[in-house]
Amino acid sequence: MEEKKTMLSGIKPSGDLTLGSYLGPLHHWPKMIEEYDCYYFMADLHAITVRQNPADLRRRTVEQLAQYIACGLNPDKCTIFVQSHVHQHAELGWVLNCYAMFGELSRMTQFKDKSAKNADNINGGLFTYPSLMAADILLYQPDLVPVGEDQKQHVELARNIVQRFNGVYGDVFKMPEPYIPKVGARIMSLTNPAAKMSKSDNGDTGRVTLMDDPNVIMKQFKRAITDSDTERCVRYDPENKPGVANLMQIYASATGKTFDEIEREFDGLGYGRFKPAVGEAVVEMLRPIQDETKRILADRAYLESVYRAGAEKASRAAERTLRRVYKKIGFVAR
Ligand code: TYM
Repeated sequence: MEEKKTMLSGIKPSGDLTLGSYLGPLHHWPKMIEEYDCYYFMADLHAITVRQNPADLRRRTVEQLAQYIACGLNPDKCTIFVQSHVHQHAELGWVLNCYAMFGELSRMTQFKDKSAKNADNINGGLFTYPSLMAADILLYQPDLVPVGEDQKQHVELARNIVQRFNGVYGDVFKMPEPYIPKVGARIMSLTNPAAKMSKSDNGDTGRVTLMDDPNVIMKQFKRAITDSDTERCVRYDPENKPGVANLMQIYASATGKTFDEIEREFDGLGYGRFKPAVGEAVVEMLRPIQDETKRILADRAYLESVYRAGAEKASRAAERTLRRVYKKIGFVAR
C-alpha cells in the first residue's frame, strides 16, 4: 500500500479566531484528513512573541482546540496538539536558528509589521519566529503546509533552510510545499480593505470572530466599507473595488458560488442588498460551528484527552527527526 502524504499547519492562540483564520486555512483542513496524515496544532510558543495575558492565552488555546474539532477535524483521524507540549519544537527551533541568516530574517515582512506595531517589545523571539516555524514544519517531514497568503514568506524561508541544511548533511528534511487556497487566502478587515483581518490587532474593529453573536455579525457586515466608486455594482475588481472584492471572497467561500454567479445574483441590486446577504451567509456558515464548539467546550475531560493523545503521537514523530538532526550535526547521543 502506498504511504499517505503528510500535512501540517498551526494557528497562534493570540486572539479569538476570525473569519480570516477560518476561510484562509482552517476551512480547508478537514477536507484533507482522509487523504493526508495530518498534524494540526495550537501555536502557543509563537503567541508569546507578543505579550499575552496568561489566563487568556490558556483559555484561547483550549477554545481553539474545540473550534478545530467543531470545524470538522476528527481527532481520531488526525493529530491535534498544543505546540508547547511537544518539546522538540523548541529544540529544533534553536538548531535551525543557527541555519537561518540574519539578513533573511530581517527581510520578513511580518517581522517588520509586528515590530512597528509593538515598538516597545521588539524581542528576539519576534525576530527568530520563522526558524521556530521552520522547526514546526520540518519535524514532521510534511509534503504540504496549508496557510494563508501572509505566511507564504515564512514557508519559503523554511524551504531555504531545507536546502541549506540538506546541502551540508544530506537528505535530512523533506522539502515542504505551501498550499494557499485560491479564494479566501487573504481576507481583509471589513472597515479597512487595505489591511488583513487580524485576530490580534487591538484596534481592528473590522473583524468577525467565529463565536460572534449573529446580531454582531450582521451589524459588522452592514457597516462594512464598500467602495466610493459611482458604479455601485457588485463586480470582482480587487484593484479598483477592494472592499467589494473582499466581501465577494467571503461570500464565495461561505456559499461555494463563483464570482460570476455572485455578479449575476446581485446584478442591479447594489451594495444595500449585497452586504446583508454576505452577513447572512456567514451567520449560517458559522451557526453549526458555534453550536458544536459550545458543546465540546463543556466537556473538559474530552478536550484534555484529545490534546494529551495528540502530544504523544506528535512527539513520537518529532523525536525521530530530532534524533536524526542531532546525529548529523555531531551531538553525542545520550
Ligand atoms: P496566524 O496565527 O497568524 O494565522 C493562522 C493562519 O491563518 C491565516 N490567516 C489568514 N488567512 C486569510 N485571511 C486572513 N485575514 C488571515 N489571517 C490569518 C494565516 O496565513 C495562517 O495560515 N506563524 C503562523 C502559525 C504557525 C504555522 C506554523 C503555520 C506556526 N507554525 C507551521 C503553518 C506551519 C501564524 O502566525 O499564523
